Order: sequence, then structure tokens, then C-alpha cells
Amino acid sequence: MSLTVKDYLEKVEKVRDLPTLPVIFTELANMLSDTNSSVHDVEHLMESDQSLTMRVLKVANSAYYRVSDRVTNIGEAVNYLGFDKLKKVALSSSILSIFKGRTVTAFDINSFWKHGVGVAVASGTIAKYVGMEEHETPYVCGLVHDIGKIVNYMLDAETFIEVAQYALDNKIDLVAAEKSQDYPRHDVLGYYVCKHWKLSKYILATVGHHHQENVDARAIKSEQLNRVIDVVIVANKITHDRKFGFSGHSSSTLPSPEILERVGIPPADLPRVVEMIEQEWKSAEGILKVLES
Ligand SMILES: [Fe+2]
Ligand SMILES: [Fe+2]
Repeated sequence: MSLTVKDYLEKVEKVRDLPTLPVIFTELANMLSDTNSSVHDVEHLMESDQSLTMRVLKVANSAYYRVSDRVTNIGEAVNYLGFDKLKKVALSSSILSIFKGRTVTAFDINSFWKHGVGVAVASGTIAKYVGMEEHETPYVCGLVHDIGKIVNYMLDAETFIEVAQYALDNKIDLVAAEKSQDYPRHDVLGYYVCKHWKLSKYILATVGHHHQENVDARAIKSEQLNRVIDVVIVANKITHDRKFGFSGHSSSTLPSPEILERVGIPPADLPRVVEMIEQEWKSAEGILKVLES
């Protein structure tokens, strides 16, 4: 018997006692999906969180950027890194802070985190490649798409690891393992948790449907929402296939020609897109190292 909505809502109740996503992440994520927000709004928000400011300055001052003068405030960091990069660093590091300091055994949070960043970078690259006006929304959605796994892990680490092991042993993906073990599905649980955290409709749609390739089955009318979901599905598959990070299972399949066409990538262009994504990952890896240190 599979879990009911009531079962999921009970889980969400339990999440209330867990450390929530940092407020700054929620605000930044919503601000970045709102095209009306200015550089000043985002700067102002970042400055309100001291530990975030510290981390952004650490990246700006790292050998990675080889900045000659010391960057001492967010305004200077905008000049050196560029506003686009700065927002992404801020967003990634704000969500990283909930994972930090957790003891882990079989489930490696750092590799999991790397998977999220990998899918974010791939989603942003695909969005740019196909000429979507808005590439920050797919980036944010890619970053958090598997948040339900973290919630499952936080609620019951032991069972989560058992299910992940089952997926590995049977060479299936985590959703298939969750289904067959009657365990909360990370996409469904993630959806309810993000709703509870009042994240944007784009995040809700992607978190909830990133394993649903069939558009009709999603029952979402908005073309824009469906497109972002599709971009993240393609990004997730590429990230698994190229083994950038680890999300709890090792099964991978390449995106189907149908979904590639829906996104706007002629299937013959896929190798070129993957190459571009790999270039972007190289630079993301440098930032990840600084943030993890
Ligand atoms: Fe997933
Ligand atoms: Fe994933």
C-alpha cells in the first residue's frame, strides 16, 4: 500500500522540529525568480546575513579568482565576480549551511551536495543554450530538486541508507527503490516540504515532478513551468551520466529524444551541450572547494 497525502503531511509536521532552510535561502531563491528585483535588493539581502557575507567574501578573495586587492564588502564582490556569479555563490552557500556539520556515514552529504550544484549548473547552462530568458529559475530549481532526500535522511537516516543501499544493490534509481520499499518518495515529500517553506511555484513544480517525464501526468497547464521541469530532468540525467557528485544511486539513462526536443536541444547537439556543461562544472568545482574548506 503506498503512502497517502495524510502520511506525507504527518512527515511535514515532523519537519517543523528540524532545522529549516535558512530564511536567507528562501528569500534569495524567491528574489532570483523575480525579474523585478535589482542588484541593490539582492546586495541588501545578502548583507543582512553575516555568515553568508563572510562566505561570499571568502570566495571572492580565494586564489580561484586571483583578485589583486582584498574584497571587503558585497559591493566590491559584485564588481569582481559579476552579479550573476555572486547570486549563485550566495544561493549555493546559503543552502550548503544546512548540510554542514552533520555526521554522515553511508550517505556522503558532500557528494550529494555536489550533485545538487551539478544539476543547478547544468540546468542554467541548458536554459542559456536554448535561449530561455530566465536562466536563474532553472538554476535554483536544479539546486534543490532532490531536497526531499535530505528531508528523508534527516527524519530517519538509518532507513534512508537502507533504501539507498537497496537501489545500489538492484541497480535501480532511488524513486524506484522508494516505491518498491513503500518508503516516502523524495519528490512527493520534497513537494510538501517546499510548500510548507513557502518556496516559489517553480521550485514546487520541479521538486514534485522531476521524475515525471510525461507532461500530461503532471497535470500542470503552464508551459513555462513544464519547460523548467523538463530542463531540470535533462540536467539531472546528464549529471548522473557524467557522475558529477552522487545522489544516492548509480543508475543512469540519457535523456530521451522526446524530452530533448521539448526543451529545444536537437538530439544531435547533446554532446556539445554536455561539453559546455562540463566546462561550467570545472568552474563550479573551484567554488565548491572554497566553500567546503
Ligand atoms: Fe530525484
Ligand atoms: Fe537528482
